[in-house]
Amino acid sequence: PKQKTLAVIKPDAMEEHRDTILEEIRGRGFSVTQLKEAVLSREMAEEFYKEHKEKPFFKQLVEFMCRGPCMMLVLTKENAVEEWRAIMGPTDPDQAKMTSPDSLRARFASDMLHNSVHGSSNELHAEEKIRFIFGDICSDAELTAD
Ligand code: CMP
Repeated sequence: PKQKTLAVIKPDAMEEHRDTILEEIRGRGFSVTQLKEAVLSREMAEEFYKEHKEKPFFKQLVEFMCRGPCMMLVLTKENAVEEWRAIMGPTDPDQAKMTSPDSLRARFASDMLHNSVHGSSNELHAEEKIRFIFGDICSDAELTAD
């Protein structure tokens, strides 16, 4: 069965690496079923990352995510959540370079915070974040179109 995940190209990767990342997404057989480019407001970034509210890097994370446009995509494919996470590689680019040198973070991330891409960690999160970013109307319209 097809699965959906939310992918985000973060502000640090938008200028130089966006097209390469989009090519990689399509080359790996994902369908991009929804897509939106936007500058997140502080409130949206805080809500998007609410699970990390207590982390010491939360404030920096929110500031970073608001500093320029992000591209948000719904990727549809079998096993999309896990596959997109594998393509991104680990959060820490130093670790990524050692364990998965072909991954996006190994190639494009500069540090743990500025790590170029985001992907939902599980199917439930994917559903919640897709609804948050694209809204119920979009999701329903897409379901009907399928
Ligand atoms: P992401 O996969 O989008 O989920 C949470 C984000 O918080 C993560 O990518 C990084 O951008 C950031 N992050 C996670 N761990 C750290 C850390 N130890 N220091 C700074 N930023 C972090």
